[in-house]
Amino acid sequence: MSMSGTVTAKEQERLALQASLDAEKSQAERNRIGQFATPSGLAEDIVRYAVARLPPAEKVHFLDPAFGTGSFYSALLKFVPKKRIAEALGFEIDPHYGKPAAKLWKDTGLVLTFADFTNAEPTPHINVLICNPPYVRHHHLHNGNKTRLQLRTQQASGMKISGLAGLYCHFLGLSHAWMTEGGIAGWLIPSEFMDVNYGHAVKRYLLDRVTLLHIHRFDPNDVQFADALVSSTIVWFRNTRPPADHEVKFTFGGTLFEPRVSRVISAHVLAREPKWTRFPIADVRSRSDIPTLSDFFRIKRGIATGDNNFFILSEKEILTRGLPMEVFTPILPSPRYLAHDEVKARKDGSPDIDRRLFLLNTKLSEEEIHRRFPALAAYLEEGKAKGLQERYLCKHRTLWYGQEDRPPAPIVCTYLGRGDSKSGRPFRFILNGSHATVANVYLALYPTPLIAREMDRDPSLLRKIWSALNKLPADVLLGEGRVYGGGLHKLEPRELSNVPAVFIMDLLPHTAVVPRIKQLGLFAKA
Ligand SMILES: C[S@@+](CC[C@H](N)C(=O)[O-])C[C@H]1O[C@@H](n2cnc3c(N)ncnc32)[C@H](O)[C@@H]1O
Repeated sequence: MSMSGTVTAKEQERLALQASLDAEKSQAERNRIGQFATPSGLAEDIVRYAVARLPPAEKVHFLDPAFGTGSFYSALLKFVPKKRIAEALGFEIDPHYGKPAAKLWKDTGLVLTFADFTNAEPTPHINVLICNPPYVRHHHLHNGNKTRLQLRTQQASGMKISGLAGLYCHFLGLSHAWMTEGGIAGWLIPSEFMDVNYGHAVKRYLLDRVTLLHIHRFDPNDVQFADALVSSTIVWFRNTRPPADHEVKFTFGGTLFEPRVSRVISAHVLAREPKWTRFPIADVRSRSDIPTLSDFFRIKRGIATGDNNFFILSEKEILTRGLPMEVFTPILPSPRYLAHDEVKARKDGSPDIDRRLFLLNTKLSEEEIHRRFPALAAYLEEGKAKGLQERYLCKHRTLWYGQEDRPPAPIVCTYLGRGDSKSGRPFRFILNGSHATVANVYLALYPTPLIAREMDRDPSLLRKIWSALNKLPADVLLGEGRVYGGGLHKLEPRELSNVPAVFIMDLLPHTAVVPRIKQLGLFAKA
């Protein structure tokens, strides 16, 4: 990749050290505390960019809170004369990297502390803060630790970070207390915060507490960042309150200094826009970088039968009328008849529930039905006598009684939800272990091949996804911006398809890297 010319001998030494230290650790260990180094070219670009934003005579007080072997520090030494560096601090939790790094940089004036940065006592004296923080997802943060982090981050920055935020959000917030007024910060972080709910607090901080200067997002399709950086973002800000009518530079693709697309966006617009990855290509509502449910499930509305009273029969009615079971498919009753969110199957695959209903579902011609099943033929005649055949839906089918194809779905969701629902869960996701199909009071979720493969590998995955779906708050399901109050709400397949599904990524093993998801970069460091 570009970027800033030749590699110094010291940087070569550091790269060799980095490679040998990385090789002594397993991928899983490195994942656990987010140990993935910044490529030298990029580290250099970042440092150059930061220093260019300082007044020329100002001395540098540098901090890297997640030091590793010091890719940023190395770049600092390359671009800034020694006498201009008043101090350089680093934190590194892991002595495996910290100790050899301290040795590498000894006699350069670096003060490297082998400690957890999130416990450090800040003093506001840093004017260049550069960080590629550990990317540790929230579910790897232990509960007590999470609460402590939330508290400290709030004290340091005013940010009330959600429990779903990754460690990098806390690093960003905690660092606030280290910065001088007017100091500059550059953060190499995942783009995810720009679009998902937990990123809201970070975005408010960037708009209200500091002056957001520039967000550069790498193009996930850019091969030059193949292994480490896809879907990463560099966020630049100055620690000072923003001016009125502030504008922020958004760039995309290429490099920090030579982006492919660039655009200035008003902070007012940003305050209203929930998905910042739309910028800089704002008008084309670009597909967001983060995965949505549609990456994992094809979502379809249940069957519109044309007349549920006629086409859906109870088991008893089928028996009484002597109708042939083979032309019926089990179908779930309306959600109010489902006491539980899980439907188990009987031996024959039908749902093991009290209210047992079946959908008339056949592709047999009327002639054939007359010949083989006189009782069914008589039943169809009853329908015709009621004028069913002439109804819009029935009339537009090849066979007026033929139903759409809706195989049983392993998860179905209720289509209508009440805002005042006592459970606090207006929409219910039902784990359907039976062969029952659903009518249009439900949405059917069919696994895409991608997730189906993972489900084959891990039989517990489906259940985990189901339970995570049931924990999604209503406003996430309905989409940000749609106020969720009392009354009845409909959840359309498109809305459900667009629900951010980072929580499903959390359930997948790191090895589950698949084409689009890989581009998303969420696992790119794995
Ligand atoms: C993504 S790496 C970045 C390393 C280096 N600054 C670079 O850009 O190449 C993050 C580093 O932070 C360290 N780290 C993880 N958790 C930490 C913590 N709580 N406090 C300090 N360092 C931590 C990891 O061991 C790892 O070396």
